[in-house]
Amino acid sequence: MMTNNQPFRVAIIGTGRPQNADGSTGFGMAHAHAKGYNEAGCEIVALCDLVAERAEAFNQENAGGKATVYTDYTQMLAETKPDIVSVCTWPAHHAPMVLACAEANVRAVHCEKPMAPNYADSLAMANACRANGIQLTFNHQRRFNGPFAAAHRLIKAGAIGDVIRIESSCGNFFDWGTHWINMFLFFNNESPAQWVLAQTDARRPNTVFGAAMETQGVAVIKFENGVYATLYVGEESQQIVDCAIRVHGKNGVLEILWNAPWLRYKTGEIGAWQLVPDAEVADGIHGDDANTAGVLDVVDALHTGRTPLCSVDNALPTTEIIFAAYESARRRGRVDMPLQTGDNAFTALLAEGVYPEAVA
Ligand SMILES: NC(=O)c1ccc[n+]([C@@H]2O[C@H](COP(=O)([O-])OP(=O)(O)OC[C@H]3O[C@@H](n4cnc5c(N)ncnc54)[C@H](O)[C@@H]3O)[C@@H](O)[C@H]2O)c1
Repeated sequence: MMTNNQPFRVAIIGTGRPQNADGSTGFGMAHAHAKGYNEAGCEIVALCDLVAERAEAFNQENAGGKATVYTDYTQMLAETKPDIVSVCTWPAHHAPMVLACAEANVRAVHCEKPMAPNYADSLAMANACRANGIQLTFNHQRRFNGPFAAAHRLIKAGAIGDVIRIESSCGNFFDWGTHWINMFLFFNNESPAQWVLAQTDARRPNTVFGAAMETQGVAVIKFENGVYATLYVGEESQQIVDCAIRVHGKNGVLEILWNAPWLRYKTGEIGAWQLVPDAEVADGIHGDDANTAGVLDVVDALHTGRTPLCSVDNALPTTEIIFAAYESARRRGRVDMPLQTGDNAFTALLAEGVYPEAVA
């Protein structure tokens, strides 16, 4: 993708190694980002990782050896002045890195989910980029996965009538929940949340990408348009809701499934499950192509000036619901939006000794 006939210049922070490769510390999400930038015709000009060898290998594999490699991202931003920066580190690093990008006045930042381990840092990233006119996105790439995109299209087309209620299950509120809550917003016309009532439990140490989280929980969310969502997380959640996400409409029901055929729905009149063509959902709910599609959308949005599908405009309300759920557990009561607390109430409860079995 070109701007003024020049390709956008891209920098990536946290190159990592591919999942399961020697020296890998995670999923190596930066690789999926690079695939998107290469497909979009961007130029990857700079790479940063604390471990230089990782960035050097990444350079050979994904940038034709042409990028400059750094171990200090502030130096990289100052010296290379990229148009777009991908932030692919673990959540605790996102806010300082995105804020540095905002200060360096880049044009766009595409950051991995979840936003940050507390609400104040998440809000700060959104505010800093809004103030500087920087396009900010978070990789809730499931908006591009076939089953979710097809479900969104069916709901919009009225296949199950107006949405009434959503129920779902997944591993936790923060790491996985961010994807599911983002889907609630996607399926529910991006209606803001009105309140959250939730509870958490933690019976063993549980960290994902360095962030501590609950081992079990439940949250009820009321959206301003009157729709209710229930999210069960962790232990036994899949016994409570036996599919990933179920959307009840006035005239039918739609299910996102954990396995193929991935998506099915029925209307009141017909009453039998209907499937969408295999080709539409073949990538399943985890397929990597959605990451590439997310990057292509980031680049196209920057080029055209439209809002990207994974905008901070839906990431921040997603994050507000996560931290409102933790706040509700701390307060033992309903949390009305907007969320007034900026910390992570779950880790505060851990620190207070409320969950002694969860302390490593
Ligand atoms: N969108 C998705 O579905 C999805 C899937 C998996 C992971 N993720 C998210 O992607 C993010 C990254 O996870 P991953 O598994 O790709 O990580 P990873 O462990 O594979 O790579 C992270 C890299 O960041 C580097 N790093 C750490 N601190 C740094 C610093 N200060 N400067 C430069 N580099 C630094 C590390 O050395 C490491 O190589 C996480 O937020 C995670 O939640 C998203």
